[in-house]
Order: sequence, then C-alpha cells, then structure tokens
Amino acid sequence: MTKKRLITSALPYVNNEPHLGNIIGCVLSADVFARFCRSRNYETLYVCGTDEYGTATETKALEAGVTPRQICDKFHAIHKKIYAHFNISFDLFGRTSTPTHTDVVQEIFRDVLANGHLIEIDSEQYFSETLDTFLADRLIVGTCPKCGYEDARGDQCDGCGGLLTPTELRNPRCAIDGGVPVLRETRHLYLNLPDISEPLEHFQEAAYTAGNWPNNAVTTTRAWMARGLEPRAITRDLKWGVPVPLAGFEKKVFYVWFDAPIGYVSITKSGLGDDWEKWWMDPENTELYQFMAKDNIPFHSVIFPATQLATGKPWTMVHHLSSTEYLNYEDSKFSKSRNIGVFGTDVIDLGIPVDLWRFYLLAVRPEKQDTAFCWQEFFDRVNNEFIDNIGNLVNRSLVYCVNNFDGTLSAVPLSAEQQAFIQEALALETKITAAYESVSPREAVRLILALGKISNRFFQEQEPWVTIKVDRDAVQGTINILAHVIRDLAVMLTPIMPETGERLFNMLGIEAANWDDLGDFTSLLGRAVGAPEILFPKLDNALVPVYKERFSGVTRVDPWAKIELRVGKVLAVESHPTASHLYVETIDIGEDQPRVIASGLVKHFQPEDILGQHVLVASNLSPANLSGVISDGMILCAAKKKKMEMISTAGLPVGSIVHRQGEAPEERPDKIGIDEFKAVDLRAKDGVVQADGIPLVVNGQPLRVTDLLNAKIG
Ligand code: 2FM
Ligand code: ZN
Repeated sequence: MTKKRLITSALPYVNNEPHLGNIIGCVLSADVFARFCRSRNYETLYVCGTDEYGTATETKALEAGVTPRQICDKFHAIHKKIYAHFNISFDLFGRTSTPTHTDVVQEIFRDVLANGHLIEIDSEQYFSETLDTFLADRLIVGTCPKCGYEDARGDQCDGCGGLLTPTELRNPRCAIDGGVPVLRETRHLYLNLPDISEPLEHFQEAAYTAGNWPNNAVTTTRAWMARGLEPRAITRDLKWGVPVPLAGFEKKVFYVWFDAPIGYVSITKSGLGDDWEKWWMDPENTELYQFMAKDNIPFHSVIFPATQLATGKPWTMVHHLSSTEYLNYEDSKFSKSRNIGVFGTDVIDLGIPVDLWRFYLLAVRPEKQDTAFCWQEFFDRVNNEFIDNIGNLVNRSLVYCVNNFDGTLSAVPLSAEQQAFIQEALALETKITAAYESVSPREAVRLILALGKISNRFFQEQEPWVTIKVDRDAVQGTINILAHVIRDLAVMLTPIMPETGERLFNMLGIEAANWDDLGDFTSLLGRAVGAPEILFPKLDNALVPVYKERFSGVTRVDPWAKIELRVGKVLAVESHPTASHLYVETIDIGEDQPRVIASGLVKHFQPEDILGQHVLVASNLSPANLSGVISDGMILCAAKKKKMEMISTAGLPVGSIVHRQGEAPEERPDKIGIDEFKAVDLRAKDGVVQADGIPLVVNGQPLRVTDLLNAKIG
C-alpha cells in the first residue's frame, strides 16, 4: 500500500510579487512533484496559499494609505494570476487571513498551553505614544552604534550590514511619524523549545533518512540543534494577525512565523472541511512533502514540528523537506526595488510559451548550490536542448510515419537491434522515475533529454530512408518503437511541461497516458498517429540583448521624452536673403504667433509644393541662426540618397502634438539642442514613421510616408 502524499509549498508573503527564483523555489517544484504523484496514482493533495499577516503587510498598508486587508486582497489576486499562468496545479490555494485559520491557530495554541509548553517573559520594547502602539524592530530608526550610519533600522544597519536590536540604536526615532519612542515593558508568550528538544531531535534524525532530506536541510537543522534551543517568542504587539486568546494578551497577535505553517492545515480545513484530518492527523498513511527555499528550513524542521509535538496530538509531520538554494538573476540578484530580474507579471507580458519557462527553470533548479537565470542560457537550452532534441525527434518520427505508412502503427516483428534499443530506453525510464521519486526534477530533465538523444541516434542508425526501399517492415518496427518512446516522453515530460505533454498525446491520437503506461511498447500497435505539428518555433536570439537590458534595472534615459513634434501649416514661403539653398517659411503651429523657420529644401521642392501644406515641425528646438535668419524650429522630411519627401499631415488639425503609439500627447515647453533631438532615431519603416522603433501617431492616425517607405527622417 503506498501512502497518501500531502504536498505543501511555502506560503508566499502576500505583499510582494514573486520572481522566477521564488517560483522555482516553491510552487513550481512542488507542482512538478504533485503532477508526478498524480500520474503515478498516489492519492495526492497539493496545498498552498498566501501568508498574509505580520509587520510587513501592516507597514506596506501604512505606506500605501490603505488597510492591510486591501493589500492582501490585491496581492492575493496577483499571486493567483501568476500561478495560473504557470499552470500550477494546486488542489487548494487559500490564504491565512480567514476565520478558519484563526480557529485552527488558536486551537493549536490552546493544546500547547494546556501541555505546559509556553512561558511568559517580560521585556522592554519601544512604544509610540502618538500612534499608541508598540513598534516593530524595523520601524525604529536611529544611529548605528557600530558605524555611525544615521538611518540604521532596529533590526539591521544598511550602512554596515550589522544585525542590531532596537535598543542599541542612538537617537531612536519612529520610522512612521519621526516621533521619539519610549521604552515600555511588555509581556510575551514563548514556546519553551528546550523542553521539547529531545523528542524533536529524535524525530528529525529519523526523518532525515526515512525522507531522504537534501544536504542543506540536514546541515541547517543539525546546526540549529547543536547551538542549543532557546525559548522563542510566539506573540507580537501588532494588530494585523491572529489574536492571542488568553487573558492579559488581548492586544497581541501571534508572530507570523507561528501562524504561517499552521496555514497549511487551516487552508486544508477551509477547502475540505472535516476531511482535513484525513491528511493532517494520519501519520501512518500519509507522507508530507514540503517545498521551500533554504531560508525557510528551520521554520519547517524545528519550529513547526516542535509546535506539533507540543500539542501532544498525532500530527502528520514532515517526511521530505525539499529546500532549494537560491536562483540569482544573471550576475546579480533579483530585486523589485531596483527593478532587476524577471517577475511573474513580466512572464505573462513576454508571451514566451510557459512550458519553455518551466523547462528551463527546472533544468537550472538550484538543488545543490545557487544557480542563475541567464537569458542567453535560457534561449540556448530551449533551442539546442529541447527543440533540436525532443522537438526534432517528434517531428521526424511522426512525419515519417504519416508519409510512409499513412500514420498507422501496424504490428511487425522486431530485429535484435530494435529490441536492444527498447532495453536501453527502459533502463533510462527507470532512472527518470527514480529521479522524480527522490524529488530531483532537475535530474529528471537531464535524463529525459538523454532519452531523446538516444532515440534520435536510434532513428539515425536505423537509416529508414535507405531501408524503406528494401524492407518496409523493418522501418515500420523502428517507427512503432519511436511512437511508444514519444508516448513515454510525453508522460514523463508532463509534470514539467504539462501543455506539451497534452499536445504530444494529441499528436499520437490518444487521450492521455500516465505512469502505469510507461515501458509498454505494444499498446499503440494497430492505431494511427495524427498529424504532427511543430512543438515550438525557436526563440529569437536577437531578443537576448533586448531582454537583458529591459530587466537589468538600469533606467535608460528616454530621449523621446524631450522632443516635441507638431502639425504646422505653411503660410508663406520666401527665398532666403543670402543663402540660395534655403527657404524662409512662415508656419502656423497653433500658437499665438506663427513661427519663422529656415530650411534647406530649395533643391527638392518648388515654393508652390510647400505653400499651404500641412507639415511636420520639430517645435521645441532652440532657435538657430541660419545665415542671418533666426530659425525657430525645423520642418521634418524623409530622406534617402538624394531624394526627399515631406511627411504628410494633410487634414490634421494645426498644432496637434505627435505621440508614440500607446502614449498620450504631451507638450514639452523646454527648448532642446539639436544633439538632444538627434538622440531619437526617427525613421520611416515600411511606410510608418517611428521613433526608436515605436510608431508615431497624431490625432489618432499613424504618421505615414508614401514614397520613401524606408528612410531616415530629419
Ligand atoms: O518566506 C516566506 O515567504 C514565508 N511567507 C514562508 C512561510 S512558509 C509557511 F510557513 F507558511
Ligand atoms: Zn552600521
């Protein structure tokens, strides 16, 4: 009898948008495992949700001038949308700010209290008399005692990086209103960890082996235990949290790290009602797999199990703890405030098929050390490792089958070589299953690609294009085998690339298949495959530098934001008094006075070509002296070789301002030099006028040229 599999991924804090590192560290890794378990017919439940309480949410709400509830609602929806885009197959995705959560947390608290595992400790903490509240450590700022930095926070100094406690700061101030906080005595409840440390250690040591924990989880946990556990505060002086149901603690809530892991349970209860116990109170028949990044390890290996033990109830406790290292971004770190890296909504905006993101993220999943997301590597791996390998195998095999056998997979005897290949494939499949079982999806990706590779080699070695002339049955045998390999690849790829798996099943003309179907090389015989389609077009390498720049955090100056172009009407055209190549025009651009503009158009246009026309004028250039005439602007033309064309603005209202598509027209009262003007790349492309590649629009109409369709504009 295989046990039920209860899968959790760390509940993301609700006040931030997840980036690729968060996504691979938690929800995506857990999703792959959950999909694998379902395909193997294990009874599976995958639980996640948003972690909503605590100082960070309260502070963010304060800054934004909204309620914590509003912040949570907004970000819960953002998280949901991003995970839906990534096809994360949660069975339950809830949140911690629910009445059920409060009930479950308070019940666990009462159990722990009744068993005598809580103690009360008094300490002094900063209190704001104006705000009538205790202040979280990070809400106290002052001078760092270590380096003298004046804006150090009460938990850490950004000047020297040192860890601090708020009472160490000199000249402490409140970060919210700048007031001077006072020290006040406060009493908190502590989980008496030393009391529980023996059974806890016993549990951990058994779990490491039984659950085959990764190294970082074992090492971190053992280090915590070796240092010796101290009582740990589980309450805080805050408002946004689960209230502490005990006399004397009415104004306090539970510390977020006490209530967050209980969120797994409460979310299950919110979703399943009484059936929650079938998962959380059945340790004999349930294996709990918990996914997280390494910074979460002690909370899941020490604090939460200690809490469970302290209740004295028969909880399902962690079996396998899957803790990733960090995913960095290029040669830096993800940072929302510095705009570095790719975040969930960026992935939605970019439009690259989500299975390709999943494929790459799993291929570089930081299992043993930190790894990095790199655009070039992303594109290379997709193009060279997935498309050239799996994509190619699928395409060549199925096309060959359709072209030569009408798509049918008729049973034929197999040669010794063909049988040997099947054995080789089966051996790899066994390894892939083992990789998934041991929660090494990265290894699974590697082995799946290896299976693709030997299958391409097999196709090549069988030389169907030669054999077809002499022994059709031998070729049919090769194709039959490859069709079954593709079916198995589809099954084994599905946890990682669910949409692709489904498309492969369709191409094979089957509804679906799962782990039980693997390794059977006869079940498709007598059937016909459908029309193959290209799995993915290659990713365009030209986009690598574009995306690198876009997500690099470097805020590029936008030269367009300085220039102003307007529609003008030519009221008069005269010859320049001294310079024979210049006209002097009088142009109405919708201002009180018409402008006087000199332009070198004599060689290209007769005065009557220009007079009365609507033209495009660069209207905020600093006036320039052209051979004695002060020119207050410039008429814009498309120019190629020796030809010139006016930009037609016929019919458009005089004075209208040109803007980039997707933006609003804006006046730019500041005058600029010609160099600033030239910093914008103005050109016609296929007849459409563009600024730095973005089409220009005026009064709802795109600006066009009719003759010089691809030309520089100046
Ligand atoms: O690190 C984090 O994002 C926490 N919100 C994880 C909580 S995991 C669990 F305990 F809920
Ligand atoms: Zn400092």
